[in-house]
Amino acid sequence: MTESNFIPNYNLTLLKDGKVSWASPSNIALVKYWGKKENQIPENPSISFTLDACKTETELVFEARQNTEDSFSFDVFFEGEKNEAFKPKIETFFKRIQKYLPFLKQYHFTINTANTFPHSSGIASSASGMSALALCLMSIEKQLNPEITTAYFNKKASFLARLGSGSACRSIEGDLVVWGQHNDIEESSDLYGVKFTSEVHPVFKNYNDTILLVDKGEKQVSSTVGHNLMYNHPYAQNRFKQAVENITAMKTILKSGDLKGFIALLESEALTLHAMMMTSMPYFILMKPNTLEIINKIWEFRAQTGLHIGFTLDAGANVHVLFPDDEADKINDFINKELVAYCQNGHYICDKIGFGAKQL
Ligand code: PMV
Repeated sequence: MTESNFIPNYNLTLLKDGKVSWASPSNIALVKYWGKKENQIPENPSISFTLDACKTETELVFEARQNTEDSFSFDVFFEGEKNEAFKPKIETFFKRIQKYLPFLKQYHFTINTANTFPHSSGIASSASGMSALALCLMSIEKQLNPEITTAYFNKKASFLARLGSGSACRSIEGDLVVWGQHNDIEESSDLYGVKFTSEVHPVFKNYNDTILLVDKGEKQVSSTVGHNLMYNHPYAQNRFKQAVENITAMKTILKSGDLKGFIALLESEALTLHAMMMTSMPYFILMKPNTLEIINKIWEFRAQTGLHIGFTLDAGANVHVLFPDDEADKINDFINKELVAYCQNGHYICDKIGFGAKQL
C-alpha cells in the first residue's frame, strides 16, 4: 500500500449531519519509536502493547456547512468544557489529512472528548486522542462510502492517526501492534500499524501494566522536540539498527514465552530511549529521583523473589510496571507496600493488555 491508496475515489454525496463515537486506547511501546523522517515516517520499527483501561472517548458531531470557505470549522470540548488549547494540534492534523478526507472542509465539527485516565496524569493522551478522532472521521467516510472493508477502514484509521501523532497509529486494533517496515513482520509498513499476527505464548495473555505516576506535570520535552533530537545525534544510526534487531528478538521471545529475555529487552529499550535523550544536544534527564528509586526496588525485589516483574518508561518520569497475570497477587502486594510511596500523591493506574478501539 502507498499513500495514494488512501486518497478516496468515490463521489462525495454529502450527508447533512450525524454523530459518530469511538473509544480508543493508549499503548505502551516495548521496542520504542524515537526519531522520525518527514511526514511522520519512523526511523525504526516499534512494537507496543495496547492498553485496556487508559482510553480516550470521542464523540464527533458533524453538520454540513452553508458556505464552505477555505478553512476548517470545529469546536473542541474536553470533559464537557470548551477547550481552545487542543485546537492548534487538531488544526495541524486536519491540514495533514485533508488530502485523504476531502469532506473535512464541508462540515462543522463538534468534538466532545474525555479520557478515562486522570487528566494531567503525565500519561500521553495524544495516542488515544488522535486515534479516537481518526476512527470517528473514518466512520464518516464509511457512511459516505459503505463499500469500505474493515481491513481498509482499520488501515486508513491507523494511517490518519499516524499523521496526528506517530504512536497513535498503534492504537487501532490488536493487543500487540507493529509500526514500521520490518522484514520479519508480515505486511508491516512505515505508513500504519499492523496487528502482530505471529504466535504469542499464553503467558502474555492478560499481561499487567501498572503505571506509577511519579510526575504528573507537563511533559518537559514535547514529542516533536524529542524526535528532532535524533537528527545529527551521534548514536542515532546504531540505535535505529538496534531497534530493528530488537524487533526480531522480541518476536522470538513473544513466541517462546521467555520472560527473562522479555524483561531484559523491555528494560534495555526503556533505558536506551532515555540514554538517547541524555546524549543529545541539548540534553535532558526525564527521570526523577523517584523513578530511580522505583527501578532499584524492582531490581532488588526481582533478585530476591525470582518473580517476573519488569519496567518500561515513556519519554517521562512515570514507570510502567509489567508482569504476568499468574504472579499478580504477589507483585501487586509489593507495589502497594513498596512502590506506591514514590508516586506523586500516591497515584497509580492498574491496567492490562487490551484489544484495541471500540465503536461506541
Ligand atoms: O507518538 P509520539 O510522537 O508522541 O512519540 C512517542 C514516542 C515514545 O512514546 C517515547 C515511544 C513510543 O514508541 O511510543
